Formats: sequence, structure tokens, C-alpha cells
Amino acid sequence: MTQDDTQKPVTMEDIISLCKRRGFIYQGSEIYGGLAGTWDYGPLGLMLRESIKRIWWNRFVDTRLDMYGVDAALLMNPKVWVSSGHVGGFADPLVEDLKTKKRYRADHLIEEKGLSVTGKSVADMTEIIKAEGIKSPEGNPLGEVRQFNMMFKTNIGAIESDENISYLRPETAQGMFVNFKNIQDTFHPKLPFGMAQIGKAFRNEIAPRDFVFRVREFEQMEIEYFVNPNLDASHEASWQKVFESFRSEVWNFIQDIGLDKDKLHELEIGDGDRAHYSARTIDFEYDFPFGKKELYGLAYRTDFDLKAHTEGSKVDLSYFDEESKTRYIPHCIEPSFGVDRTVLAVLATAYRTDMLGGEERVYLKLSPSVAPHRIAVFPLLKNKPELISKAKEIWETLRKAAIAKGLSVAKIAYDEVGSIGKRYRRQDEVGTPMCVTVDFDTLEKGTVTVRDRDTGEQRVVKVEEVGELLN
Ligand code: GAP
Repeated sequence: MTQDDTQKPVTMEDIISLCKRRGFIYQGSEIYGGLAGTWDYGPLGLMLRESIKRIWWNRFVDTRLDMYGVDAALLMNPKVWVSSGHVGGFADPLVEDLKTKKRYRADHLIEEKGLSVTGKSVADMTEIIKAEGIKSPEGNPLGEVRQFNMMFKTNIGAIESDENISYLRPETAQGMFVNFKNIQDTFHPKLPFGMAQIGKAFRNEIAPRDFVFRVREFEQMEIEYFVNPNLDASHEASWQKVFESFRSEVWNFIQDIGLDKDKLHELEIGDGDRAHYSARTIDFEYDFPFGKKELYGLAYRTDFDLKAHTEGSKVDLSYFDEESKTRYIPHCIEPSFGVDRTVLAVLATAYRTDMLGGEERVYLKLSPSVAPHRIAVFPLLKNKPELISKAKEIWETLRKAAIAKGLSVAKIAYDEVGSIGKRYRRQDEVGTPMCVTVDFDTLEKGTVTVRDRDTGEQRVVKVEEVGELLN
């Protein structure tokens, strides 16, 4: 039996508690009682998240010649959201508890009864709630189902009026569509090419839940990839082929960051259920502790956005194809990744408990590619200055090696607090793959002990070889 066979299923409480205890993620505004749907990343959560973003950017932008990175403003002209369809249609179906006046997601209440909401209008949902006698979670009767727009409104400038309303962006995508012409004018890329962006998005989720899974402020990593719509399906640059290539890139990316491919599932979204802009969508679902839920999406947005912004802005967003001497509006393939859902998936996948040396322990089996610390260095004893200075010397060597590899110095941790056993446990809990201990043999024979996080096994390594451990 392998270690993995003996695992108890991880619960969200396990993960949330470890995240707080070890400085990954804290409740937002905690000292004021929190703010629902917001979470603050601490130093280790931030390092994990930064690694995920860097790996993504490396795979999708830095190693490709056909990608243009942008970082657009969060606040955009409100007309953007009219053209994109968000002002008219970016809404969730809500229903009110007639007694408490609290609002609930109608689709969630119906689905909790084992019924489907696929293709159902708000009128249909009101009917289902009546027919099935569905009550609010407090047991009270419910009113009519209504659409509720999820964009956060704000006012631009000194005066609050309907004239100067804008929105916090609910997706990063539109920041790329509105810069399509700028990229064309500045870089003259030939189709197919893509634009990529990582940044914050905001949604007034009525039922934020499951830790950082469904939150009101989150981060997305998105690509808008433009193709010639007139190409035959067999052509390398046809929308179908591009769609397939991003489809397999999603699988490659999740393995880069140590997610389990057996836990990823594709769901082809049916005709009635796709977003208004999409002619084909695959949701990538992942087995989270609370069930199989959407992790990423891949959509064929057709020419919806560039056409809508051409009409809305009166600026021509077509493309002149030198080869065929024709002008057309490109079509768009969009792979969309949530950073926070990725962080949660990585933590839930890595969380382990086992018995080591007769004691139960918790550890994170993180891939070294995302582990906040790759290596931790310890002096065996705290009260021996010669061990401390040797350990700090090795720590510095490793930090320099980390910098040379383009990594943060924080990738190499140093700890001299508490017994060596306690220090191992602390590093296990934050997923540090290796601990290097400096002992008296280091001074006498020039060797250190390297301990493996997953097996607890120790081996002796020459000091000169320590720099190699980073590889
Ligand atoms: N531009 C397309 C778009 O935004 P989406 O399916 O609405 O599509 C894309 O969102 C991804 O953003 C989701 O797959 C998910 O990873 C992430 N996401 C969406 N809403 C979220 C929320 N409330 N909290 C955390 N992540 C969210």
C-alpha cells in the first residue's frame, strides 16, 4: 500500500486552518469581523500564487512568439460594458426570502433539490420553486426569481451621479479587446496571434463560498487568441485547431504546477447553457474537497467582442489580411484561468497526513515548481555559534544560486527555532521539499544532512554539492 492509499479525504476546514496557521491566506479585514467573499494572501500564499502566475506566463507568453502581454486598467469606460453585454446580461438569478428579505441564488436552491436548471429562464425557475414547494434555507416562502447584475458599480470623479457610473471589471478579457487596435498599430502582428493578461476581476457574488473558490475579488489569467474565421477546419490556424491546441495546453499547464490530471474533467457546455458570446465552451472541472467544480474555461467567442466594440466605439476593429487581400473581423478563442481557484486546487491536491517516526503529521506534497520554499537550511543546535555561522554561509550560497536561476531569495528558508523535529514539521506543513541540516560533521567532514519531505529519509551530501540541490 502506498502512502497515498491511506489518505483521509481532506476537508476545507483542514485547508483553511493550515492556510491561516502557516501564513498562506487570511480572512479579509479579519480584525473587523471580516468581509464576505474577500481573502488576504500572506507571504507564503503570495509566493505560491506568484509561482503559479509565473509558470502560466512562461508557458503561454514568454516561450511563444505569437503572444502580446498587456496590463489594462481595472476601471474602464462604462460603454465597454454596454458593448460587451455585461450591463444588459451579466446577471445571476436571485430569489428573495419573503420574511427575512435575504436573497439567495435561485439556481443553487433548485439544484440542491436534485433538479436541473439547464436552459431555464427566470420565469421557469419561479415556476419550479412554486411547483416543488422550495423554501428558503430558513424555511420561509420565496418570491419571484429576478436577474441581479453582478458588476460592482462605482462613481468616477467628485460627484456621485448616474452620469459618471463605472464598474470594476468583472473579467480581464475586455481590457484586451479594447486594445486590439493598439497592438495591431504598434506591432503589426499577422494572424493568428494572441493577447494575454493577468489581473484582478470583481464580481458581486451573492453566495461567495468555499474559501477562495467563489470570491468577490479574484484574479484571472486570460488569453484572447485571434484567428482567421475563413480557414478550413484542417488548417493549423483554423479556430478548431487552435481550440484543440489550447485544450491540450490546459492539461500541460496543470501538470506544470503539480495538479492531478486524474482530477481534471472536461465538460462540453450545451447549446442553451453557454454564455451569450460563445459558440463553443469546454469547462475544465476539478475534484475539489466539496465536489467537482469549474476550474477553468475555454471558449470560442467568435467575432462577438470585436464586432460589438466596433459598433459601440465606431472604431474599425477589422484586420487586413495581406495574403488574401481581404479585410475581416477576426474570431477569438479564449482560455480563461482563475488564479485563486488554482491556488485552492494546488493546496487541496497537496494536502497529506501520515505517520512519520510514530507521530501523525500534516504535510503539503507541493511540486518544487510552486513550493514557497524549495529548501530550508537549519543549524542542528541553536547554541553553537560555529554551526550557526556555517548554516548561514550555506544559506547564502543557496540564495545566490536561487538568484542566478531567477528565483526569489525567499525560496531558501532558514530556521533555528525549536527542536530539529519541530522545524521539520513546520517545513512539511508549508510543503518545503528538502531540508538541509548543518551539524558537527559539516565542520569536520564537510557534509550536510539532506532530508526529504515526503519520505522523511535522510542522506549525507558534500557541502560543495548543496548548490546542485536547487536543480
Ligand atoms: N472571460 C471569460 C470569463 O471571465 P468565467 O467562466 O466567468 O469566464 C473564468 O471566468 C474563470 O475565472 C473561471 O473559470 C474561474 O477560474 C474564475 N472565476 C470566475 N468567477 C470567480 C469567482 N467568483 N471567484 C473565483 N474565481 C472565479
